[in-house]
Amino acid sequence: MSNRTFTIIKPEVVAKGFEGKVLDAFSERGFRVVALKKTQFSLEQASRFYAIHKDRPFFQGLLKYITSSPVVVAILEKENAVQDFRKLIGSTNPAEAEEGTIRKKFGSNIEQNAVHGSDSDENAQIEGSYFFSLFEQY
Ligand code: CMP
Repeated sequence: MSNRTFTIIKPEVVAKGFEGKVLDAFSERGFRVVALKKTQFSLEQASRFYAIHKDRPFFQGLLKYITSSPVVVAILEKENAVQDFRKLIGSTNPAEAEEGTIRKKFGSNIEQNAVHGSDSDENAQIEGSYFFSLFEQY
């Protein structure tokens, strides 16, 4: 069990200017920001980041969406971070997410689902390292 996870606050949330509200919800639930920045995925970066989904029918749509405008990426810290964060954000499909979860509150549909959260300690480490060097983690 590791104490870090990686998140993306996705394009539709940032475009509406709601990233502050989402970051607030993270900190209210005990997640500390280790690293944070606003950036925009290139097509190449998005293809690599989501390579695990490359054979899925939604892959091209996902690339178009995630590269469409800026996102906010962050490494977050808390005991049992990966599992607790996935609980906080809710199901992939906002329509199936529980009341009070981030995806229920800010997500639009199964693609535009507001936030990403790592699914394992190993992926949290890999995903965070795409965006932040060790010197950028506090
Ligand atoms: P995320 O948790 O970032 O991981 C993969 C992303 O692909 C997911 O959130 C959604 O944005 C998107 N996604 C997953 N399943 C589907 C689907 N069935 N249709 C469209 N997009 C999807």
